[in-house]
Amino acid sequence: MQPDQIATDAIDIWTWSLDADTGQLASFSELLSDDETARSARFIHDRDRRFFIVGRGRLREILATYGERIDPCELTFDYNGHGKPRIGERHGLGLHFNLSHSADLAVLAVSLHYELGVDIEEKKALQEDVAAHFFSAKERASLQEVPVDRYLDHFYRCWTRKEAFVKAHGAGLSLPLDAFDVTFGEEDAPRLERLEGDPEAPVTWSLFHMQTPPNFAGAVAAQTFGNTARLRYR
Ligand SMILES: CC(C)(COP(=O)(O)OP(=O)(O)OC[C@H]1O[C@@H](n2cnc3c(N)ncnc32)[C@H](O)[C@@H]1OP(=O)(O)O)[C@@H](O)C(=O)NCCC(=O)NCCS
Repeated sequence: MQPDQIATDAIDIWTWSLDADTGQLASFSELLSDDETARSARFIHDRDRRFFIVGRGRLREILATYGERIDPCELTFDYNGHGKPRIGERHGLGLHFNLSHSADLAVLAVSLHYELGVDIEEKKALQEDVAAHFFSAKERASLQEVPVDRYLDHFYRCWTRKEAFVKAHGAGLSLPLDAFDVTFGEEDAPRLERLEGDPEAPVTWSLFHMQTPPNFAGAVAAQTFGNTARLRYR
């Protein structure tokens, strides 16, 4: 680890386009492991395959900059039981990271100390009442109070904060989405307000609003154990 690479209280945020020309795509392909190459070949749509290659390739390039003499193509990942990747133990990097992608954008959060989740979503008009399926009773009630012209912004703030928390927690879809509440009002600081069965969770976990292009929404969740942390845009 290069000590100046990451401040202890900082969560680094990296954003990049998943669009790449043929030459860049070939370079990123060379960085992938055999299992990643096999996964890329299973995508039905060519665009999804290209985006996956650029996402993983750039992820490897960035993570390698946090170590000394680490070759991006030599990085190995371990996966928890729900598919959450972490850097292989053997690298001794002791870094946490999480990746998200939406449309043609990827975002990566990196921390020296804290378990992380990140989510970015392109804001698209909703075809159905998605909140009824995914949000908690308290979140649904709050959303009903929101004026129609601001509904979508509130909806995506809530969605990305919930998704970032699920991803930080690492339990994937086994964590019921109505078992926790997040804040998402314009005036409210991002916060986990409740997690069923864990009264300490609002202190243990921090939520952050993440800057994105205007047609996207983004959030980061980190297990900060009450410590102060901040996002640092790279
Ligand atoms: C992986 C998951 C957590 C998120 O998927 P997603 O929103 O489609 O995808 P994102 O782009 O945000 O993140 C994908 C990346 O997260 C990482 N990831 C994979 N499994 C993960 C897990 N269990 N926890 C955290 N991160 C995970 C991977 O790096 C993955 O990138 P890859 O596809 O290139 O390998 C998945 O379990 C899921 O589908 N969750 C949806 C839960 C939901 O219904 N949320 C509603 C919120 S209100």
